[in-house]
Amino acid sequence: MEFARKRTLLKVIVLGDSGVGKTSLMNQYPSARWKAVGIVILLLSGALSVVPCYILPCLDLLELTRYVSKKFSQQYKATIGADFLTKEVLIEDKLVTLQIWDTAGQERFQSLGVAFYRGADCCILVYDVNAKRTFNNLNTWHDEFLNQASPSDPKNFPFILVGNKIDLDGGSKRMVSEKKAREWCASKGNIPYFETSAKEDNNVDTAFLCIAKLAMEHE
Ligand code: GTP
Ligand code: MG
Repeated sequence: MEFARKRTLLKVIVLGDSGVGKTSLMNQYPSARWKAVGIVILLLSGALSVVPCYILPCLDLLELTRYVSKKFSQQYKATIGADFLTKEVLIEDKLVTLQIWDTAGQERFQSLGVAFYRGADCCILVYDVNAKRTFNNLNTWHDEFLNQASPSDPKNFPFILVGNKIDLDGGSKRMVSEKKAREWCASKGNIPYFETSAKEDNNVDTAFLCIAKLAMEHE
């Protein structure tokens, strides 16, 4: 059964202004909680000899450890060009590899041509709920993606919108209401909307899982 599963690769592109938290979100997925649970299960099963110890290295233990050791960083380090990581997820009994592309929001580092966008299966647009400018620029990012990727079915292409940094000062600095964001999503053909905090690891997994499912359905 396990071996009969078809492997699917999905190219996910993350776009949005500089500093909205694209890299932080990507590094937070999957959530540290689940990564930690995974490691405990692996170690316990090894200790109890449920799984022979020599098999443990094959179980991606190192990769899990790498994820756990990745912590949210307060320090801003601009992405230059683009960077990606891959993550395997199980969606409705199908093993799916997400190839998540993190892009640079700073204009001087944006030199990604058509080739970069080609073959994208879905797109995550990110803005910062505390910075109106990042919300106002969403139209530009949305259009840029459609122009560059030229999907065959632009009206139904899988997008999600993420409003990040909801934790900031307990929400007191918020400049864009959830209502406004949802209106924007409605105007673009009912794009699903998620509010997240990469810092507090809030709602990040849900957003990624949603875009993966949408992309699978669209395939
Ligand atoms: P570019 O690479 O320039 O496009 O920026 P980016 O969108 O990748 O932003 P990045 O993830 O580097 O985050 C920018 C800054 O915001 C960093 O100092 C992060 O620590 C901070 N940050 C990111 N997400 C959150 C969040 O959810 N809450 C808070 N409070 N800070 C965040
Ligand atoms: Mg970045």
